[in-house]
Amino acid sequence: MKDTFDREINYLRVSVTDRCDLRCIYCMKEKMEFLPKSEILSSEEVNNICSAFIDLGIKKIRITGGEPLIKKGMPTILDYLGKKINNSNLEELTLTTNGTQLYKYAEVIKKNGIKRINVSLDTLDSKKYLKITRGGNLEKVLEGLKIAKKIGLKVKINTVALKNININELDKMVDWCINKKFDITFIEVMPMDMENDIRLEQYYPLTKVRSFLKKRYSLENTNINTGGPSKYVKIKNSNQKIGFITPLTNNFCESCNRVRLTCTGRIYSCLGHNKFVDLKEALLKSKKHLKALILKSIYLKPRSHEFEIQKESANKNLERTMNVTGG
Ligand code: 5AD
Ligand code: SF4
Repeated sequence: MKDTFDREINYLRVSVTDRCDLRCIYCMKEKMEFLPKSEILSSEEVNNICSAFIDLGIKKIRITGGEPLIKKGMPTILDYLGKKINNSNLEELTLTTNGTQLYKYAEVIKKNGIKRINVSLDTLDSKKYLKITRGGNLEKVLEGLKIAKKIGLKVKINTVALKNININELDKMVDWCINKKFDITFIEVMPMDMENDIRLEQYYPLTKVRSFLKKRYSLENTNINTGGPSKYVKIKNSNQKIGFITPLTNNFCESCNRVRLTCTGRIYSCLGHNKFVDLKEALLKSKKHLKALILKSIYLKPRSHEFEIQKESANKNLERTMNVTGG
């Protein structure tokens, strides 16, 4: 599928649930109200929509949330999509998880053809972890990571750079990743649905992280492209990479190849726009209807996102949170 700016769209990110067992300070409110269960796609509906996308040329699917591994139907989805790998247009299935359930699911994930997973981890200090996630247990995540590594899943750690919270330990995290043979990607806080002042307090530009790390490590620029917005550098004398996702300081839209499916059945063809196409009704009709709406959403994909953080006009927040749309 090509959009109107001649970009090949072959990557689908699917949020399978808005629910999460954590409440990360940059992602959720403490007292989070989740969507009514009836609005969330069932695993069969997720599978049907993915199948239509795959028929239309999607080659890579990433499952996200919320926390995908707490969805009851997750094994059904993994099984269905796992069987499509290399049996259809689908070439790769990946997963983004907070890692809390990984100790239970690592084997199932591997068994269903997933080779790479992204695990969100913003600190290696259990007290800090408890604070950032509002209640998470770091030990559980580390246990899951150990199992994942042991059975040969390739792990990338996602770390959100948070001013006054984890900036002082980012090099320690890089050291830890080198030691474990994990890649790591740093992410700038993105302006999703939260009060502006909180986000401004948390925001720390990755340009600064990068120059700090440059002093400690010998970093080589690369043109590695994993189909995402991350820019990678290689750490000399190791096989590990450091990625930087900078939605606010660097525009990555030009090479965007992705669309997103929310856990409620909407397609957002851009993370930074409020326009969407709703698939719910088409689900009751036929695959033909689904495909027509998918093509419409690709046609509507805008040229670039509209994140702006430091401008006064930035108050018009995006109306949805990361856990519904998927990171
Ligand atoms: N800004 C930046 N990253 C975020 N994530 C969730 N919410 C935000 C936000 N507001 C991250 C998670 C996860 C990835 C999928 O998105 O930490 O690593
Ligand atoms: Fe859950 Fe991920 Fe949001 Fe944290 S960032 S609350 S782990 S969805």
